[in-house]
Amino acid sequence: MVTVISHSPQATLQLGESWAKELEPGWVIGLTGDLGVGKTLLVKGLAAGLGIAAPIQSPSFALVNQYLEGRLPLYHLDLYRLETHAQIVSAGLEEYFHPRGVTVVEWMERWQDSVSASLRQVRMEYMSETIRRITYEDFRA
Ligand SMILES: Nc1ncnc2c1ncn2[C@@H]1O[C@H](COP(=O)(O)OP(=O)(O)OP(=O)(O)O)[C@@H](O)[C@H]1O
Ligand SMILES: [Mg+2]
Repeated sequence: MVTVISHSPQATLQLGESWAKELEPGWVIGLTGDLGVGKTLLVKGLAAGLGIAAPIQSPSFALVNQYLEGRLPLYHLDLYRLETHAQIVSAGLEEYFHPRGVTVVEWMERWQDSVSASLRQVRMEYMSETIRRITYEDFRA
């Protein structure tokens, strides 16, 4: 388990960018943490590090946004509105948990199931207005 203290939005972006450099196809990055803690910002950093120039917005009605212009395909899920594992499966999102590219998931705790792909499990915690504690652990498939 690795702990990083982010002291600014910029530092969280840079963390995502540095992860993106080492990412291999087939990984799922599962983000957990309260509203406004910085999950989407970390996704923006990942996208930038993969060379994706398109603006990153949380998928809402579409449930998944895909970005195919970077070094690896990036799939961005936000499960906030899906309360159960069954709802996630009926929404057709199961396939993104064993991606050909890389999947990053906001509100990963909603999945409540194992992941057969390689998983980076990330927890983001609010320390102060500008400080976040980010802990993560890798589980290789
Ligand atoms: N160290 C930090 N790391 C990340 N975000 C920070 C930090 N300090 C302040 N912030 C602010 O916190 C907010 C994070 O917003 P963001 O949309 O990324 O959160 P989120 O976890 O995706 O929220 P939601 O659960 O609504 O999807 C931004 O306004 C950002 O500027
Ligand atoms: Mg978000």
